[in-house]
Amino acid sequence: MYAHLLQPGKIGSLYVRNRVIMAPLGSRLTTENGAVTDDMIEFYSQRARGGAGVIVIEAMGIEYPQAVGKPNHVRFHDERYVPGHAKLVEKIHECGGKAFAMLWHAGINKGCLEGVQPVGPSAILNPNTGIVPHELTVDEIHELVNKFGQAAARAKLCGYDGVNVHAAHGYLLSSFVSAATNQRTDEYGGSFENRIRFPLEVLAAIRRNTGKDYPVVFRINGSDFIDGGITPEEAAAFAEALEKGGVNAIDVSAGVYGSIDTMIEPIQYEEGWKLYLAENIRKHVSIPVFGVGVIHDPAKADKAIADGQVDFVCVGRELLCEPQWVNKAAAGETHFVKCIGCNSCFERIGKNLPIRCAVNALAGRELHTPRPAEKPLNIAVAGAGPAGITAAVTAAGRGHHVTLFEKENHIGGQLVLAGAPPRKDKILEYIGYLQEELNRSEVEVKLCHEFTVEDARSFDRVIVAAGAHCRTIPLKGSGFEYMTAWDALQNRSFSWDSRNVLLIGAGSVGCETALYIREHGAASVTVVEMREKIAADMDNISRMKLLHELAECGVRTLPSTVLDHMENGMAYLSGNVGEKIPCDTVVEAVGAAPDRELCDALYQNGIPFINIGDAACIGKIGEAVRGGFDAAATI
Ligand SMILES: Cc1cc2nc3c(=O)[nH]c(=O)nc-3n(C[C@H](O)[C@H](O)[C@H](O)COP(=O)(O)O)c2cc1C
Ligand code: SF4
Repeated sequence: MYAHLLQPGKIGSLYVRNRVIMAPLGSRLTTENGAVTDDMIEFYSQRARGGAGVIVIEAMGIEYPQAVGKPNHVRFHDERYVPGHAKLVEKIHECGGKAFAMLWHAGINKGCLEGVQPVGPSAILNPNTGIVPHELTVDEIHELVNKFGQAAARAKLCGYDGVNVHAAHGYLLSSFVSAATNQRTDEYGGSFENRIRFPLEVLAAIRRNTGKDYPVVFRINGSDFIDGGITPEEAAAFAEALEKGGVNAIDVSAGVYGSIDTMIEPIQYEEGWKLYLAENIRKHVSIPVFGVGVIHDPAKADKAIADGQVDFVCVGRELLCEPQWVNKAAAGETHFVKCIGCNSCFERIGKNLPIRCAVNALAGRELHTPRPAEKPLNIAVAGAGPAGITAAVTAAGRGHHVTLFEKENHIGGQLVLAGAPPRKDKILEYIGYLQEELNRSEVEVKLCHEFTVEDARSFDRVIVAAGAHCRTIPLKGSGFEYMTAWDALQNRSFSWDSRNVLLIGAGSVGCETALYIREHGAASVTVVEMREKIAADMDNISRMKLLHELAECGVRTLPSTVLDHMENGMAYLSGNVGEKIPCDTVVEAVGAAPDRELCDALYQNGIPFINIGDAACIGKIGEAVRGGFDAAATI
């Protein structure tokens, strides 16, 4: 099975047990000074134990403070970091994996950490940070070339099996390659040959510092996906030059911060959609080429290698969700959790919080694996959404006797609604995964059973995961049809044909419902939002993609706007837009509120309970899953 994916590979002089490389994932599992921690060691070694051939340790600053974006980015500019990394590498080796260090300089993408100005090829405004970087002098470039070389020597000293040089994503090296950010007129700018000079000098310095046999990979962009950025043709020429310079493999990614949805894809992107960029480069070089991006299914990864698109697959978020991905593939196991592309992992690290995953409660806290229960108890869980199911399965896994009650005739809770809008079927797949988790567990599931105080009396412990209800606001005006966004998404047979719809509330639920309604035939959809920002509750990447989709399908979004009143088939708007629009149907998406009825009843009857998920606090999937897990892990 998966003969291509699981066959041994070779990167320069290094033999690798299979063709799976863990893509670099900034984890923020470091100390506040960017040093390796035990959490970080366990995070990576668990993925090595799970079978990945190579683990690429996340971007590490080759100098400080300019090379790193945040204080707790991995620092690698000094010998004092060697012992921690040596310990990390040793552990990965003990687990049968190889370890690469990603050498990185943030360049223009760094914020103003500690008041230090970012550096770049040219002093032009970076629209993503709002900062004009300092234009590096030639002497400063030479100094950085040396620092890359020294960092590679340090990596070798730590025992790293190779280095992966970050020359992608608009960071320092790739900002020199791109004509959009490099407007120099000296030997490091202008012609393509000049623009690739800096990365080639870095490669030469690494070779000088590590010897001719030390495996060196460059991560480059197969396309920047912005006007004036690196094109697939330039990427191929860059790869050719790197091969001539002695690089051992090319890792092909894509996107810069202005096109970040192509770098770290949100839910809408299909599996392996950008492997064609790696395939393009593979036609121009004879060294191995890695492809990355939305790889979840081992069969598809295997096929990409068999078809000659790539030599290795680089898997990021899927290994965050399922550390045992490779071992499970090798064993023919098809039950594993797939990444839902929610990007809450990236959103968290952007806020400097340690990495977590929405669908893997243990990601980033692998050392906290729960122990078997000391004494098996009878546990009731009320509500079969993600929080309730995770709690039930986790508690049963620890040896408790668990009964899961659900008032509906199906599991999933709000996931069912979350999976209804266009191109969100990965959520529906996740419901399928949760169902299989229940099937494989000892949990007794009681559907169509609304849990009561009387039920609670026969259990040792009660966990309430009762979810939330949709808020509504009083609306007046006759001759209009009214419904909530939840109703709209639930009622699949409702005909939207030729309707003029006003949607109130442009949070993520409102915007996704608007898209659903428009794609189901509505003549017009207008979304009004009293706040200044549309989809303000979403992470930046998912938001970028959703706003693009709304614009493309002609949904009108009006921030800082409220509905004044409705009459005679018209909605009168005030705020930023003082106009009336034709309207026959009004959909409300004004948020959700915790369902506390059951909690109140238990409380009034003096029955202790643990409240989790939306019933405790409205949150995203990850918060529900971790809440459910933590509740069950401590009983
Ligand atoms: C939380 C997170 C952190 C990341 N950190 C890095 C990084 O340090 N260096 C890098 O080159 N790419 C980084 N990436 C990009 C990934 O390596 C990968 O290219 C991208 O997530 C697409 O692959 P995937 O769909 O398999 O996750 C990061 C992505 C995520 C989600
Ligand atoms: S947090 Fe979301 S995007 Fe990130 S790995 Fe987990 S499921 Fe995938």
